Amino acid sequence: MSIQDDWAVALIKLADLFGLTEPGIRHVGMVDARCRPRVLAAVQHLPMALDRAGPIAQPICEILLRLQHLLHWSQNPNYTDQDFLRGYAYCELVGPHGHIQHRELALGLLLLQPRITYPEHAHPAKETYLVLSGHAQWKQGDGRWRARGPGDLITHASAESHAMRTKTEPLLAAYLWQDHLDVSAQLLNPVLRGTRGISPTRKNHDPAQ
Ligand SMILES: [Fe+2]
Repeated sequence: MSIQDDWAVALIKLADLFGLTEPGIRHVGMVDARCRPRVLAAVQHLPMALDRAGPIAQPICEILLRLQHLLHWSQNPNYTDQDFLRGYAYCELVGPHGHIQHRELALGLLLLQPRITYPEHAHPAKETYLVLSGHAQWKQGDGRWRARGPGDLITHASAESHAMRTKTEPLLAAYLWQDHLDVSAQLLNPVLRGTRGISPTRKNHDPAQ
């Protein structure tokens, strides 16, 4: 299968899992060449995550294994904690800044290393996660930490706080962002937020979370 075929099939499978019928996702054009491959420290955990994919995600993860050298991983530039940044990365597959351009939604991957906490954060965009690999704990609003695993769908309403923490496995989850794509996520704890405050109007898309 060609690389273009791999992209097309991976996105169709992801769209199916999210119930998306968007023609812009289901009929992929050429992958944006401006989205150059970029590897971050956390990406060393990607092979293990792909290897441990749940049954639903296995076909997608087999394709991602072939595409992994092409993926452009990013981080929210408003996050400053270096320990966290060594264990966190996201990749926008489809979206305003993704490998495949789309103005109305963002579809991508979140990767967390084992034994890391993604602190409480929020964003105006509506978000749906699909866990591809990794048993981790997830928290929404004032709720308790809940165990989630491959195949689980987690939805976050606009501005709803949420957090994740991994244990012995990396976490790989697909995300879907809808609305307010141009407003970044921000950490809710002002101490963790550091000195680089995040303006809610900043046009710096950070899906992930
Ligand atoms: Fe999020």
